Amino acid sequence: MQKPNMTASVKPEIIVIAIDGPAGAGKSTVAKILARRLSISYLDTGAMYRALTFKALREKINLEDGSQLAELAKTTKIQLKASQFGLRIFLDGDDVSEEIRSVEVTNNTFYIARAPEVRAIMVGLQRQLGEQQSVVAEGRDIGTVVFPKATKKFYLDADFKERAQRRIKELQAKGKTVNEQQLQDELNDRDQKDFTRKVGPLKKADDAIVIDSTGLTAEETAEKILQYFNK
Ligand code: DC
Repeated sequence: MQKPNMTASVKPEIIVIAIDGPAGAGKSTVAKILARRLSISYLDTGAMYRALTFKALREKINLEDGSQLAELAKTTKIQLKASQFGLRIFLDGDDVSEEIRSVEVTNNTFYIARAPEVRAIMVGLQRQLGEQQSVVAEGRDIGTVVFPKATKKFYLDADFKERAQRRIKELQAKGKTVNEQQLQDELNDRDQKDFTRKVGPLKKADDAIVIDSTGLTAEETAEKILQYFNK
């Protein structure tokens, strides 16, 4: 009888870094830097909610109808794939990485994010991804719901004005004209919806380390997180 190959079955330790925080706190840029520095995958959970929102808008589904949204989530394939151009988001096989960043998608994602059955499906997918490989996962409920046993948890925050300014610069860099007051109102509205949602609200996990990125570049913020991570 052949001896079992013990080394082949030993899985290297899986690391999960959870980053939660409000929109504009710098989570995605910082998570990408961390993933690169640690040579692990980047898991953008917001992109998954965005992709489903994009499909619901395209198919003119009633966003107020939780059961229709649940059906949509059950019959939709969302994939995150690493590429030379960074993480790409696929919806039923099509690359929708650009489309899901539109203002329309941004302002309607809360319908998808507040539907309990949709969240259960998304959380299941996210856990599957985190079980297969080491990840830096960012979102709103990562440390509290998706990966309560994450290796390290961070809650990334920044002053409201600075978060709004970052979003304005991001849109301007894409050549968009921005109404600053409207953008601040929309950001405030998204914050309220994120904090008060009944399922998976944005909340700092009890064991998360708070990082304030106000006045810091993304590189500096990532560096700060790495210092805690290496402790
Ligand atoms: O991080 P983002 O802006 O791409 O997220 C898009 C939306 O998805 C945001 O309105 C909140 C929601 N979201 C969520 O409810 N839970 C997550 N884990 C990630 C994002």
